[in-house]
Amino acid sequence: MKMYRKLFWTLIHGFAMLPTIAIRDSHVVNRKLVDVPQFERPIGNHTFHIGKEALLGCSVINLGKHKVGWLRAEDQTVLSLNDRVVLSPRYSVNLDTPSTWQLRIRPLRAEDRGCYMCQINTQPSMKWQIGCIDVYVPPDIINEETSADVSAQELDNVTLICRASGHPPPKITWRREDHEPILLKKVGSRDFYKVESYTGSSLPLWRVDRRQMGAFLCIAANDVPPAVSKRIILNVNFSPTVIVPNQLLGAPLGTDVVLECTVEAYPNTINYWLKNRGEMLLDGPKYVIGEERSSYRVMMKLTIRYFSRSDIGTYNCVSTNSLGKSEGTLRLYEIKLYPSSQSSAEVNIGGLTEGAVKQKTFNNSTNKLPRTLNIIVLLILLLLYC
Ligand SMILES: *[C@@H]1O[C@H](CO)[C@@H](O)[C@H](O)[C@H]1NC(C)=O
Ligand SMILES: *[C@@H]1O[C@H](CO)[C@@H](O)[C@H](O)[C@H]1NC(C)=O
Ligand SMILES: *[C@@H]1O[C@H](CO)[C@@H](O)[C@H](O)[C@H]1NC(C)=O
Ligand SMILES: *[C@@H]1O[C@H](CO)[C@@H](O)[C@H](O)[C@H]1NC(C)=O
Repeated sequence: MKMYRKLFWTLIHGFAMLPTIAIRDSHVVNRKLVDVPQFERPIGNHTFHIGKEALLGCSVINLGKHKVGWLRAEDQTVLSLNDRVVLSPRYSVNLDTPSTWQLRIRPLRAEDRGCYMCQINTQPSMKWQIGCIDVYVPPDIINEETSADVSAQELDNVTLICRASGHPPPKITWRREDHEPILLKKVGSRDFYKVESYTGSSLPLWRVDRRQMGAFLCIAANDVPPAVSKRIILNVNFSPTVIVPNQLLGAPLGTDVVLECTVEAYPNTINYWLKNRGEMLLDGPKYVIGEERSSYRVMMKLTIRYFSRSDIGTYNCVSTNSLGKSEGTLRLYEIKLYPSSQSSAEVNIGGLTEGAVKQKTFNNSTNKLPRTLNIIVLLILLLLYC
């Protein structure tokens, strides 16, 4: 009976104690909640430019006697502990606000790209959070993988290549330096189409044409300025072609006569004039020899001073380059004009006779005189009728 009573009292005591134990426990839990270090906000992912600095913030509340460390997530290398830097002088840590441990990396390198861990040495298990940085790198042309100046034969297939490093990967755009459109041709097609610019690291020029010759710019750009460019010159080699705008030239004696040929060729040509398939003409008081070059075109110009009978004949403009030779032929004749009973002026083409009226089609230097003379003939006719 005594035993039972004792047990009873023990139970009573126990029951009485229960709430107190519970209260004490909850008190412990509360204290734990308040005292345990907590991250205030995530570190987040950030983008920085190479050479500048990267900042990552780790905000902790209730740190207590715990320590905050920064680690490189990839290999768990410890970078700092509290405000003490463990590694390389490029890292530093400062307490931005009383609760933010800020990891600073400066100057930033491409290999710093990756994730970083902020850790608190809580027991039994550490608390940690991760934030990542992306390192933007401006574009740079990779010369070893980019075309140098190109020399091709006309109708060869040519591909210009341009590669650039950078992060994010740069976009490659092609333009002509002279701001003319780029001429492109689809494989198998004969016709060109024009584009202001072309995007892609290789610019395919199928069966290349002389009109595609020139300086090209490949421009590499990403989100990081400045964009960079490289100039690539495309030379298209072909043998000379001679075009003669006026093959028959008539002029009255005593005037200066201009003979012209247009040459297309690359590489550059040696050009000269021949008279009657023999004598090479030299610049001097009688002949003025000139050339106007624009890209692969050369305008050859021969001025014969004081046109005389001995100048009548055949002239050749001759053009040669390493790939071949070409020539054009011009015939020079005298326009002999006099009033006659047929009311028509006559010309002498190396023995042939033609009506001067035909000279209407000729240009300035040669047609001015016949036209005025025609008017004189008309005036004489009018006078005769009156
Ligand atoms: C941050 O970047 C990492 C790696 O790129 C990725 O796994 C994570 O989801 C990103 N976090 C946020 C919040 O965008
Ligand atoms: C150019 O390319 C086309 C098609 O790819 C090919 O048929 C042709 O033979 C090539 N021409 C030269 C000169 O290599
Ligand atoms: C006259 O000159 C113009 C311009 O230079 C040229 O286009 C035209 O073909 C010439 N006409 C003749 C008949 O030579
Ligand atoms: C013809 O002559 C006129 C005046 O002399 C000149 O303005 C014009 O440019 C010339 N045209 C050609 C095609 O030579």
